[in-house]
Amino acid sequence: MRYLTFALAKGRLANKSLDMFEKIGITCEEMKDKDSRKLIFTNEELGYRFFLAKANDVPTYVEYGAADIGIVGKDTILEEGRKLYEVLDLGIGRCRMCVCGPESARDLLQHHELIRVATKYPAIAKDYFYNKKHQTVEIIKLNGSIELAPIVGLSEVIVDIVETGSTLRENGLTVLEEVCPLSARMVVNQVSMKRENERITKIIQNLKTLIQAQQEAEQ
Ligand code: PRP
Repeated sequence: MRYLTFALAKGRLANKSLDMFEKIGITCEEMKDKDSRKLIFTNEELGYRFFLAKANDVPTYVEYGAADIGIVGKDTILEEGRKLYEVLDLGIGRCRMCVCGPESARDLLQHHELIRVATKYPAIAKDYFYNKKHQTVEIIKLNGSIELAPIVGLSEVIVDIVETGSTLRENGLTVLEEVCPLSARMVVNQVSMKRENERITKIIQNLKTLIQAQQEAEQ
């Protein structure tokens, strides 16, 4: 049997998605050893391999077929724009992509002023301002702590992820516009979807059943 290879975005999403996989019988004992420096983990018996990668690289591994399946945030999928199938919303890691800034920047957005937008997501910001809002802006790519930009005068607004909203609140910023909702998604390589259709469809089906049961239990 050929291995099915899973690429998981490092961090909170990986732990949560591994919990979900475990519940549908996709286990990997090797991966639970937190002290291990191994990069790839195998379940020989079931024919699965798992590896953790930087979130931004997950769509790349999946597009090229180095991983059959990826678990990654919708933000990264939109930003990377890779050729792959997005097959399932896992319902975990829910948050929003928003335009944020000081309350005083609201006017600049409404009047379509030429403003500077700092973001870790230039493709998403570009699509939102150019294609949806038809507003010309200058996009400045940053790599983290995006909330700093409007505070120190690098930009008027930011495009960033808002989860609880506490980073914004603690820095005197607010959500000005919502770009889109986000959550973790399962993505599949386009060739794998055909070649391993039966195994992959079964995994999707089992995850769907699990998600539905979890949603019903929450209600
Ligand atoms: C993300 C995001 C916000 C924050 C939002 O940053 O970029 O800064 O979380 O969460 P909140 O609404 O619950 O406060 P992350 O912690 O991933 O680090 P980064 O700033 O280096 O990107």
